Amino acid sequence: MYIRELGLRDFRSWPELELQLEPGVTVFVGRNGYGKTNIVEAIGYVAHLGSHRVSNDAPMVRQGKPNARISATAVNHGRELTAHLLLKAQGANLAQINRTKLGSARELLGVVKTVLFSPEDLALVRGEPEQRRRFLDHILATRFPRIAGVKADYDKVLRQRNSLLKTAGGAMRKGYDGGEDAQGALATLDVWDAQLATLGSQLIAARMDLVAQLSPLVHESNARIAPESRPASIAYRTTVLPGETGDQEQAQVSPDSAPEVAILEAFMLAELGRMRKREIERGMSLVGPHRDDLDVLLGSYPAKGFASHGETWSMALALRLAEYQLLKQDGTDPILILDDVFAELDARRREKLVAIASEAEQVLITAAVDEDLPANLDDAVVHRHVVTVKDTGEGRISLMDEDAAGEESARLGQEQEE
Ligand SMILES: Nc1ncnc2c1ncn2[C@@H]1O[C@H](COP(=O)(O)OP(=O)(O)OP(=O)(O)O)[C@@H](O)[C@H]1O
Ligand SMILES: [Mg+2]
Repeated sequence: MYIRELGLRDFRSWPELELQLEPGVTVFVGRNGYGKTNIVEAIGYVAHLGSHRVSNDAPMVRQGKPNARISATAVNHGRELTAHLLLKAQGANLAQINRTKLGSARELLGVVKTVLFSPEDLALVRGEPEQRRRFLDHILATRFPRIAGVKADYDKVLRQRNSLLKTAGGAMRKGYDGGEDAQGALATLDVWDAQLATLGSQLIAARMDLVAQLSPLVHESNARIAPESRPASIAYRTTVLPGETGDQEQAQVSPDSAPEVAILEAFMLAELGRMRKREIERGMSLVGPHRDDLDVLLGSYPAKGFASHGETWSMALALRLAEYQLLKQDGTDPILILDDVFAELDARRREKLVAIASEAEQVLITAAVDEDLPANLDDAVVHRHVVTVKDTGEGRISLMDEDAAGEESARLGQEQEE
């Protein structure tokens, strides 16, 4: 698949961008903070209905503007579709495919498929569980739009349940004998529990399946990038199954023993019952996919806290590479986006990444300076765009290929900085 045309309006630092793209490698060069990542973030947003950098939409809309627009025309096996997305600073986003308005933005999922490598990927190994859950959920959204719907419904129920736990905690602590208020609140909590378990178990089952498919690919990819490394693996860790070593422990699920949805649902309900008192005390939901994690392992050790800097980078690349292979196995070559990654990598890892990039139908690369790009990439580059900025009354805005003088001054500025 490749993107033929990208249009942005008021997306982050871009008031307006109309860009024609081609298969092969396209490079965006510009100084730090000029708006390169914003371009690829917009493409990634259409693919996953979420940013790889932040979990809320508000920062996507250019400061002082009510909404942002992204349009992307993707060509997949010769078939062309244009996805339009109107991102509102407040309220639900609107989406359209070609000229057809969609009931829900989620119907856009699958039109554009990307795999995005970025420096933020280190957080997949070192960061908080939320980053790893987002990694899994973004892949699920691209492959199974239905699961993105389940996730959205789950999040909604979770918010309502949390607010009930917060506001009616006092009443609920009195128990079923505590009068009408307490009974009413507890009955409502029962309803939320049932819905939470129905939706949560579907999301967990989908994540477990995904992890089972990704794990051998992660192992393979890591062995390719870092042949001397201990074997890499991943495993899903859930709060809804009873732990193996004690009741506080979360259970790690091995790929071949993933339970079915109905069984997960029953376990989740049981766990919600067991944890109810604690949840009421703490005023928050402690059981469910929003508290789960992905274990990333090198040998038998968790990479987080044990892996060296180089091992962490290899592992992060291996996770993205596994994502790329999986989408490819599904039958579509996803657009490969390399956001500022070459500067961070040593010569060998660069070389591996170039080898992978040469397999992809379309590769979009951002870099602060040309020197950050591997020399053996040169032949594959079909377009090189220069991103600059201009300070206006509305603040600083990004510009594309403005003029040669702009580029020259950008280069000079860069050199002075160094
Ligand atoms: N909602 C927004 N409205 C206006 N400007 C924004 C908005 N969000 C981000 N920006 C601006 O965009 C710039 C960052 O853009 P981006 O992350 O694309 O930079 P970059 O070219 O990738 O830089 P680097 O080389 O450091 O990675 C910042 O200057 C920031 O102020
Ligand atoms: Mg950047």
